[in-house]
Order: sequence, then structure tokens, then C-alpha cells
Amino acid sequence: MTVLQIMSAADAQVLLRTTDADAIARELAPHGVHFERWETREAAPGDDVLAAYAGEVARISETGGFRLVDVVRMRPDDTDPAWPELARAAREKFLSEHRHDEDEVRFFVDGRGCFYLHLDDRVYAVVCERGDLLSVPAGTRHWFDMGTRPEFCAIRFFQEEDGWVGDFTGDPIASTIPYLDELLAPAP
Ligand SMILES: [Fe+2]
Repeated sequence: MTVLQIMSAADAQVLLRTTDADAIARELAPHGVHFERWETREAAPGDDVLAAYAGEVARISETGGFRLVDVVRMRPDDTDPAWPELARAAREKFLSEHRHDEDEVRFFVDGRGCFYLHLDDRVYAVVCERGDLLSVPAGTRHWFDMGTRPEFCAIRFFQEEDGWVGDFTGDPIASTIPYLDELLAPAP
């Protein structure tokens, strides 16, 4: 389920929660954050998701000036004793507030992840799922939570080889806002 939950940055009070894709795009657009949904399709055998979405990938690359595209995957593997630590380390990497010199653009082929955008005195948590594209403008304070059991496949777009280095702000705000697992937990 794709979700936008807007919260007060000061105390995480929920100001708006919606699962309506049009409403999500409308709320984000004034901040320069682009959200759109793509018609989903199965990847061809061999799992070539870039080929399956070639038209959309070309359009985004052209309009955003992205020269590099890749695919990132996280999938639980309970047969691998190293997996819990791999998952924890992967999750930790961008779980604190940071920003980048270039736009962070992701299309979710499968699974889910949550972008938290710190915009003025609010936090916009966007839970992205299969079919969702989110573009976070360069310089936007944000963090990303893949949850305690990361499972997703995403197409990533880059402008420069080294453009996507995280500049961490040192603000501990991420620890004061509900994480992905909590955001999706059923209300008590
Ligand atoms: Fe980031």
C-alpha cells in the first residue's frame, strides 16, 4: 500500500495520511518532489527489469539528465546466516537524515521502502511500493527506511558517478519519527 503520512517535525503529530496516489502527487508537487505511478509489468525471463520498463526509463533519463541507471535488490534469505546482519547494515546506511548533490530518483519494481522528506517544519513519509516513482530534489533533507525485513527491487537513476554521496546533517530527527514498520502497523 502506497502511503503518504505528513507529520509535524517537532513531535511527529500526524497532520495528514492518505493512500490516494493523486493526492500524494498533489501534496508533494509544491515542494518540487515528483511522484508518479507506472503501469506495472512482469520482467522478462532473466529478470531484466530495465528492459521491461525501457520506455519509462528512457523518458525519466532524458528529462532528468540521468546518465546512469541501475537496479538494486534486497530479498530476505533465511537460509543465509549472514542475511540479518547484511539487512541491518543496508538499512542503517541511509537511516539518518542526509542530502545529496543530485536528485534521488527511484522506481519500485517490487517490494517497498519509505522515504522521509524533512520539508520546513514537517516530515513527509512516503511509503513507495510496486509501480511508484519518487524523485527527491537535490539538497532535500531526507532519510530512507527499508524496514527490519528489507524486500524490494528498485531502479535507480544517477546524474554523476559520484553524485549520490550522502551528506549527513547530524540531526537525530529520524529517531523521533515512526519507522516504516510502525507506519504500516495496524492501528491498535
Ligand atoms: Fe538519500
